[in-house]
This record gives sequence, C-alpha cells and structure tokens, in this order.
Amino acid sequence: MNLASSVCFDRSLHKPRQPQLQKVSAVLKAQISSDTMELDISLSPRVNSLKPSKTMAITDQATALAQAGVPVIRLAAGEPDFDTPSVIAEAGITAIREGYTRYTPNAGTLELRTAICHKLKEENGISYTPNEILVSNGAKQSILQAVLAVCSPGDEVLIPAPFWVSYPEMARLADANPVILPTNISENFLLDPKLLESKLSEKSRLLILCSPSNPTGSVYPHELLEQIAEVVARHPRLLVLSDEIYEHIIYAPATHTSFASLPGMWDRTLTVNGFSKAFAMTGWRLGYLAGPKHFVAACGKIQSQSTSGAGSISQKAGVAALGLGYAGGEAVSTMVKAFRERRDFLVKSFGELDGVKISEPQGAFYLFLDFSFYYGSKVDGFGVINGSESLCRYLLDKAQVALVPGDAFGDDSCIRISYAESLTTLQAAVERIKGALISLKPVNTV
Ligand SMILES: Cc1ncc(COP(=O)(O)O)c(C=O)c1O
Repeated sequence: MNLASSVCFDRSLHKPRQPQLQKVSAVLKAQISSDTMELDISLSPRVNSLKPSKTMAITDQATALAQAGVPVIRLAAGEPDFDTPSVIAEAGITAIREGYTRYTPNAGTLELRTAICHKLKEENGISYTPNEILVSNGAKQSILQAVLAVCSPGDEVLIPAPFWVSYPEMARLADANPVILPTNISENFLLDPKLLESKLSEKSRLLILCSPSNPTGSVYPHELLEQIAEVVARHPRLLVLSDEIYEHIIYAPATHTSFASLPGMWDRTLTVNGFSKAFAMTGWRLGYLAGPKHFVAACGKIQSQSTSGAGSISQKAGVAALGLGYAGGEAVSTMVKAFRERRDFLVKSFGELDGVKISEPQGAFYLFLDFSFYYGSKVDGFGVINGSESLCRYLLDKAQVALVPGDAFGDDSCIRISYAESLTTLQAAVERIKGALISLKPVNTV
C-alpha cells in the first residue's frame, strides 16, 4: 500500500498534526527515503527572536580577513591584549600537575568563594558569606542566570543605553521585555534618575547597571548612584544587577562604587564580577555572582542543570588572582597604566578630528565616539554611509580597521573602539582611520 498517497502527510512539520495521524506519520518518516523527506529545520521562537552578538561577528570577520593575509587592525574585541599574569597561570598549571582536575561543587570551591567574600568586603565594602556567592563559567553566565532566575514572562528589564550587547538579548531569553533608557554623550552616557523614575511600573523587575561601562567607559559617580538608589528604593519589585566586571580598570580620580554597598541596596542587588578583564583571563572562563542567598540559590539551581560548576583549574587560578593583593596589586595596576596611556592618546588624536564628539572614558578599555557628523557621505564605489554599520564596513574596507558599530549597543551615532592593543598598533589605526575619513564629505558641512 502506498501510505503516502492514502494519508495527508505534512512534510513541513511546521503545522500541528492531528493526533490520530501521528503514529502513521512516524511510520511514514521511516519509510520515505531520505531524498524525498524534508527535514524539519525550524528553530525555537526563543532563538529566532535573538540577535547574534555583533561584536563577536565582527571579531570573527576581522580574524578571517587577517587569516587570509589582509593586514587588518582588530579593535573590535573586548579582550585585554596582555597575557594572564604568570602567578595566576602557574597556579593553573600546578592545579593540573596536582591532579586538581575533577568536578568542583556546583557553586564553586569553598576556597574561591571564601576568597571572593574577602575581596568584596575589603575592596567593595559589602559583606557576604560563601553561600551567597555563585561561581560560574564567566560573568556572562552569571548575568544570564540572574536574569533567568528573577524575571517572569512579561517583566521589564531596564537597560541604560549604550548597553553591553548581551543585556537585551538575555532579557528576551527570559521572555522579559527590555526597556531601553537612552543617555547622552554630553552627560557622559550616565543614566538620569528622573528618566528611570518615569519608566518604572509594576512590571519593572530588574535594572542593569554597568560601571565602568562597556561600551562607553563611563563610571557612575557615587552621588549619582545614591540618587538612582533612592528611586529604586521606592519600588518593592525592582532588583538591580550591578555588572562590575571592569571595576579595576578605572582611571583616577574616578573611583568605583559597588551598588550593593549603598544604604538599603544589599537586599535587592545582584553583584556580578569576574576575572576576564582585570586579570586578562578571558579564556579561563571565570566569573561570579554575589547576592542574597535566596536569589543566588535560584541561579545555582539553573547552573546545576546546565553547566555545573566552573572549571576546577580556573578556580585555582582565580584564587591566585585574588591573592595578588588589593585591586590585583602591581600586575593589574601595570595593565591599567598602559590602558590609561592608550586612552589619553586616542582621546587626543580623535579630539583633533572635525565633527567627532567624545566623552572621555573613565574606565574599561573602550572609546565610544560619535561619528554621526560623517553620516550622509557618499563614497564612489561604496555608496552612502548612512549609519554606524556602514561606516564600520567602510573603515574595514578602506582603512582595514575593525571596529564595532554603535547600533549594536543601542546608539547608532557612535562607534566603539577597543584599545586593548599596543600603542604602536593604535597609532597605526588612528592614521588609517583619519586617512579614510578625510575622503568623506559629510552632508552637514556642504
Ligand atoms: C560588560 C560586560 N559584562 C560581562 C562580560 C562577560 O565577561 P566574561 O563572561 O568573560 O566573564 C563582558 C565581556 O565582554 C562585558 O563586557
């Protein structure tokens, strides 16, 4: 019997099938030869609504060009160019040699969590016990788990823009709605507490703060955080995720304040930090969350059913990193000094360019420059530069410098330059960028 002709077989498998046909369909799937069967390649709506990370896409594109022999200067990645300090690396090697290669507790080793508690007390003025700490495979995982743990479908996640690319997408993964709070370059991209207040409702569940900020390098002053805390305190449902991963990469006189240390904020703050940036440990994949036990345990539950504990070797290295002394000691301050020199060089160099607006970064290793003056320019053989994405494509084409368009961070007027590269490389990049911009004719000046 030709079953295929006797029943209605839904080849796309997209539409729900009638229950009585399901068994027959299963038989059919087995009988139809692979050349006539259409495989169901549909994806979950959750994935379909997700944007891929533009920073990662551009980094991959630039790496492919470099591998093909194109002399691209890559200033797109959010990764220090320094090696992991040797004391930390040695601790990892010793861990392997000593057979420290087994699963650790889901929340992280007691040794590391105790060291984190000590760091948070000494450097940040916040008290936690080890069961209020969850160590994960990078701060990215810590943030995602926190969003998944506290947001219900339809909740709102408030995110000041420019934002780190992953925040809105993580909110979407949790079936929550990102609410973007724009800021201004003229106000150093800092959130206005009045704007925050005006956007809060009973749906507001989580405010994400990032200081020092990726992509702007802005650092929230203590007084401004206090004003934000006053607004937050009036809303019983509102929690704050404070992403402090760039805390040590900060340029005096700017100073770092942990949101949880502000009066009344400990109970509602989830503090995220990690080892990737300050200790140049991106590949070790180590980050952590600190917060009230109830929330930390919920995040731990998610982790226990997904990745389990972070790598045992990385955790040993993390203990060594925290043993380097206050704020990472000399190893970290040497890197910060180099970042500062590069920042000063770039701010001065781009300050000399017509029409470019700058907010001098106070931390992290990014410069978020407003290049919108050049939008509208027509380039022979390229077309019109109509936003940050086309300007970045143009700069990759013409100057062979890879940068990230600001629209990935929620601000199309800007472009992000990562200065986690040597001063010599940055000097070459500036020359190339200036050369490419000179041939543009901005419409606003014509
Ligand atoms: C603002 C911010 N938060 C968190 C992370 C995640 O860091 P990791 O997962 O490497 O610890 C990054 C990495 O780029 C970042 O820029």
